[in-house]
Amino acid sequence: MRPYVYLVAAITIDGRIASRTGYSKLSCPADLRRLHGLRAKADAVLVGAGTVRVDNPRLTVRYVQGKNPMRVVVDGALSLPLDMRVFDGSAPTVVLTTDRAPRDKVKALKERGIQVLEFPGDKVPLNKALEALYSMGVRSVLIEGGGQINWQALSQCLVDELIITITPYAFGAGTSLLEGPGFDDTESAPFRLRLQSAEICECGQEVVLRYKVECKK
Ligand SMILES: NC(=O)c1ccc[n+]([C@@H]2O[C@H](COP(=O)([O-])OP(=O)(O)OC[C@H]3O[C@@H](n4cnc5c(N)ncnc54)[C@H](OP(=O)(O)O)[C@@H]3O)[C@@H](O)[C@H]2O)c1
Repeated sequence: MRPYVYLVAAITIDGRIASRTGYSKLSCPADLRRLHGLRAKADAVLVGAGTVRVDNPRLTVRYVQGKNPMRVVVDGALSLPLDMRVFDGSAPTVVLTTDRAPRDKVKALKERGIQVLEFPGDKVPLNKALEALYSMGVRSVLIEGGGQINWQALSQCLVDELIITITPYAFGAGTSLLEGPGFDDTESAPFRLRLQSAEICECGQEVVLRYKVECKK
């Protein structure tokens, strides 16, 4: 069993979640409130180490009333510095890592009250990670990027709903919504996207798309 999984992102019209320099502040105030509302409803929010390194996010709920979700960080080599905001103790935090994790770093994180789940091999299998979270009582997960994590989750059919805000910007280069080996054509993906709604954001220049993700298998 795994939790229900939402994948949320703000993208440019050319499908980027960040520019070539890593700049990713795309959301308008209403979009940020929507994101924080989703966080408040989720049991856990999950991001990759790249997102934490570049954005140094708190992943807490601030723009709406609500409880902080568990923060889950996928960091295969435990390369993130301990002074990142996600390790500040302001919400329960779990780090998913692999055999590549240095022992002293595992110890240091645990001493800060951060739970470390270690998976054999050099990559965290996201399906197993989600099952582990489910066994810890997590029933809904909000995946918030970045591109590599998004690719793995979607291409492995581990996403139930996609919520994408198209913002009125273009980067022309940078990190795409999905960063992976890619699909050859429109039939090759193991999932189908079913549009549920398309709304113009209160800010007036953004479109919020919601899709159900149907796994073909
Ligand atoms: N606009 C938006 O909505 C939005 C949202 C989130 C992020 N972003 C942007 O996205 C960019 C980051 O995206 P990204 O694709 O570079 O990074 P990412 O997906 O956040 O993280 C990638 C890193 O996470 C680790 N990782 C990923 N999958 C793993 C696995 N299965 N097992 C073990 N480790 C794994 C790897 O670290 P190691 O290489 O150390 O193994 C990998 O380098 C940033 O610029 C951020 O600003 C934008």
